[in-house]
Amino acid sequence: MNKSSRRLFIKTGLWGSTLAMFSHTSSASEPTPKEIKGPFYPLNAQKDRDFDLTQVAGKSGVAKGKVVFVEGRVLDSHDKPIENATVDIWQANAAGKYNHPHDTYDAPIDPNFQGWAIVQSGENGKFRFKTIIPGIYPATETWDRPPHIHFKVTKKGYVELVTQMYFPDHKLNTPDLLLAKKSKKQQAQMIATKIKGKQHSLRYNIVLKKA
Ligand SMILES: [Fe+2]
Repeated sequence: MNKSSRRLFIKTGLWGSTLAMFSHTSSASEPTPKEIKGPFYPLNAQKDRDFDLTQVAGKSGVAKGKVVFVEGRVLDSHDKPIENATVDIWQANAAGKYNHPHDTYDAPIDPNFQGWAIVQSGENGKFRFKTIIPGIYPATETWDRPPHIHFKVTKKGYVELVTQMYFPDHKLNTPDLLLAKKSKKQQAQMIATKIKGKQHSLRYNIVLKKA
């Protein structure tokens, strides 16, 4: 290789890797960070697990609390939609109580709150559900958990994701001992965002990692 062709080689080599770097950062998304499942995954069989957690089939009442619609998409790390993923969610009621035999928190169970739902992602990876903002509950004597929704997302060919979704601008997000362990970037992925012009609606996209 003579001097000038070597120079050309170095030049194109550098250019090539710069391009590769750009294409990597612009099209790849990090998978949604994992979080612990916690002790309150539902144990009791429950017939009504539809997308509306604010009402229980066969009951005329509605759940206590502030209604919120959560919508999002299940995506792969190249932002391609994943259809037919199973989105399994469970959460505390407005008083911060799980309808679970191991939850010893002294707060009332809400008989009109469904507490658990399983929905599928549809066209373009979209999913949605209607719920209430879960209450704060004590994890220990000195640690109150901010409102959060537990997620378990599964799809054949992808790594099962167990995580927790947080609510935007909540004062207990920053001191939360679980959320505080995440990087700022990870926190931004785990905290849902308000949807402009759509009241009581939050967006929460989920990125799954290939198995
Ligand atoms: Fe929880």
